[in-house]
Amino acid sequence: MTHSVLRRTATTAAALAGLLLATPGASAAPAQIAAAPDIPLASVKAHLTQFQSIATANGGNRAHGRPGYRASIDYVKGKLDAAGYTTSLQTFTYNGATGYNLIADWPGGDPNQVLMAGAHLDSTTSGPGINDNATGSAAVLETALAVSRAQLQPDKHLRFGWWGAEELGLVGSKAYVNGLPSAERAKFAGYLNFDMIGSPNPGYFVYDDDPAIEKTFKDYYAGLGVPTEIETEGDGRSDHASFKNVGIPVGGLFTGASRTKTAAQAQKWGGTSGQAFDRCYHTSCDTTANINDTALDRNSDAVAHAIWTLSAGTTTPPPGTSFENTADVAIPDNGAAVSSPVTVTGRTGNAPSTLKVDVNVVHTYRGDVVLDLVAPDGSAYRLKNSSSSDSADNIVATYTVNASSEVANGTWRLRAQDVAAQDTGYINSVRLTF
Ligand code: TRP
Ligand code: ZN
Ligand code: CA
Repeated sequence: MTHSVLRRTATTAAALAGLLLATPGASAAPAQIAAAPDIPLASVKAHLTQFQSIATANGGNRAHGRPGYRASIDYVKGKLDAAGYTTSLQTFTYNGATGYNLIADWPGGDPNQVLMAGAHLDSTTSGPGINDNATGSAAVLETALAVSRAQLQPDKHLRFGWWGAEELGLVGSKAYVNGLPSAERAKFAGYLNFDMIGSPNPGYFVYDDDPAIEKTFKDYYAGLGVPTEIETEGDGRSDHASFKNVGIPVGGLFTGASRTKTAAQAQKWGGTSGQAFDRCYHTSCDTTANINDTALDRNSDAVAHAIWTLSAGTTTPPPGTSFENTADVAIPDNGAAVSSPVTVTGRTGNAPSTLKVDVNVVHTYRGDVVLDLVAPDGSAYRLKNSSSSDSADNIVATYTVNASSEVANGTWRLRAQDVAAQDTGYINSVRLTF
C-alpha cells in the first residue's frame, strides 16, 4: 500500500519537472531494539582529562601537525584496538605536515549498510580544545567502547571516525570521503557528527538534515523533556558537510560556539543569556574547566541512543515503496518509441520478483501500443504487445514483472511505441512498487 502521491496534482513543480516521488510503504512493526546503555559521564570525562594532559605535555594544544595531535590519535587507537575494533590510520598531507584520520570498524553487520559516527580530534593551535572537540571525540570513543562491552550485533555495519585538521577546513574528513570509491559511498546509511557537545553555557541543537536521523535525536531529547532547536550556527562548518556533499544522509548534535545565548534560550535551558555558548571557543581557556557536565552527559547518552537505534532494523527496506513519474510523454503516431523515466534510490540489492508496474496511457486505440519496462541496465520486459483488434481506448493496468535479476537502484523506463497509423496518445503516468 502506498500513501497518496502527487499524481493528480500535476501542477506541482515536482510533477511538472517529472520528478519522482518515493512514498514509504506501510511496514511491519520494527524488530525489538535493545535500549542503548547509559554512557557513564565519568568515563567520558576521564577521556577529556587524558586529552588535557596530552595538550599540556605538548605545548598546550593538539593541533594538526603538532605532537599533541599524534598523541591524541594514539590514545584513541589504543582503546579501540584493545576493545576488538579493526582500526586503520589514514594519512594526508596539509600545510607540509602529515595529518591522520583514525577509522575503527566494529566487525559484523551488513557491509552494504554502513552507519558511521565521527568527531574531529584536532584542536586549534590556541589551546587544548576540550569542548572543541575532545567532547565529541570522547563521546564517540565511549560509545564505541560501549558497543564492545555489549558485544552488540547490529544489523548495520558500524564504523567510527576521528578526523584530523577539521580546524583548517574539514581537511581530514574531506580526504576520507574523497578516498571512498562511489560504490563505497553508496553503502552509507548515514553519518553522525559530534563537534562541541559540552559547551559551558549550553544550548541543545540538533542538525536539521536527514529527517530520520534528526527524529532519532529529537525523540531522545523529548524523552528527557528537554527542548531542542535546529542547529544554525554555520551549517557546513563541521565534518558532516564532507559527507553531505556527496549525498550521504547526515545528522548530529551541537551545544553552541561563539554565538550568544538569548533570553528565550536561557529561559528554556538555563545558563546565562547575553553570553556566548562557549566563551573559550578557540582560545587557551578551552580546558577541562570549560565543560557543562549535564550537557556532556545528555549528549553522550544521545550518541549511544542514535547508534543503537539507527543500526538496528530490517536489512532491506520495507516492501511497498513506490516511485512514480507523472510527467506526460507524447507517443508519436506509428513512430519511434518514447519512454518515461523512473529513478529509484535508497534500495539495496535487486528488485523483487513481483515488481508492480502501474501504467496509465491515454490513447484512442490501445491496440496500437507496445509497452516494455526497461531496467537500469537496459534489459527490457514486455508488458503488452500490439493488437489490431483491441480498439478500446486507454491503458490503465497493473503489470507484475519478475525483476529479481535486476539491481533495484537506477533509472527504470516505461517504453511505449505506437506501431499503427491514425490513433495516438501519451504516457500519463508510470509507477513502480518494490
Ligand atoms: N566546527 C567548528 C569548529 O570546530 C565549530 C562549529 C561552528 C560547529 N558551527 C558549528 C560545529 C555548527 C557543528 C555545527 O571550530
Ligand atoms: Zn570543532
Ligand atoms: Ca496509431
